[in-house]
Amino acid sequence: MDRLKQRYRSFLATEEGVRAYRAFQRVVYGKEDSLLSQLETNVLPLVRTSCSHLRLADVGGGDGRRCRAIVRFLQTGTKAPIELDFIEPSPVMMRYAAALLPASARCHSCTFEEMRGTALPHLCLFVHSVFAIEWPFLCARIEELCAAGCQCVVIGDRVDGLVRSLKAIVDANGDGKRTSIDDVEQALCSIGLRVRAVDLEIPFTCAAGEIDSLEMTLFHWLSLGRRDVCRKFRRVCQDQSRVENGVVSLVERERALIVSADDSGGSDTRRRAEPTGGQ
Ligand SMILES: C[S@@+](CC[C@H](N)C(=O)[O-])C[C@H]1O[C@@H](n2cnc3c(N)ncnc32)[C@H](O)[C@@H]1O
Repeated sequence: MDRLKQRYRSFLATEEGVRAYRAFQRVVYGKEDSLLSQLETNVLPLVRTSCSHLRLADVGGGDGRRCRAIVRFLQTGTKAPIELDFIEPSPVMMRYAAALLPASARCHSCTFEEMRGTALPHLCLFVHSVFAIEWPFLCARIEELCAAGCQCVVIGDRVDGLVRSLKAIVDANGDGKRTSIDDVEQALCSIGLRVRAVDLEIPFTCAAGEIDSLEMTLFHWLSLGRRDVCRKFRRVCQDQSRVENGVVSLVERERALIVSADDSGGSDTRRRAEPTGGQ
């Protein structure tokens, strides 16, 4: 495994790492978690949930907050009981998750690579968790899951987004490469899976007087624990922000891939993904 993936996993296994990630989430997605509402409006309605009981897996489910909300959302749309496998290697994240998830959830304290012997899920989620999964294992396993009838939803930041530009700066020391959503999309299309891409735009703001603190929060998480925000990082944040009436506005761009072996992802599902455009 490259050093960057190792550092990412190790940082997320600490209290500081989990605090840094949660602070980043609050800045970008707000208290109400705007990514969740985008998923509920634009992505989850496209997944197949018609089965007598829905087996859901969440890979790299973190502190379980998104997973709990997704289970609740899916539960309102399907009469079927939901069976959950929650996979998360960070003991700190898992401690939070175990307190939040339904008592019936099966919690697996391991990586996706180490995961053995669960029942085949109908739906497998990877919400911002592909960055540190081994390559090409990730795509080979998604291919296997899809061949067995599972649908996968993979979400990550787009190459033309703010977070990706910032990662390029903090990762410039050559420790390795975080798998991007574009890498995953290309690889899955090239092995013939059906990939439907839904582009998501996440606007966020802060008061002009809080921009230093916002940059620090983004930097602390993305650099995996550093606090010495560099000038280049600040310049990218400033270049991508708009200031009006004392409010700084930024936009993060992400992509959700709905992946299956057949056309079950919807009528306009195609082999080569075509973004549907942000909303
Ligand atoms: C950025 S967090 C996202 C958490 C959650 N899905 C969310 O959206 O809030 C990524 C998570 O993936 C986990 N992770 C890292 N490497 C992993 C691997 N190889 N297999 C499974 N999970 C992994 C991390 O511990 C972390 O909790």
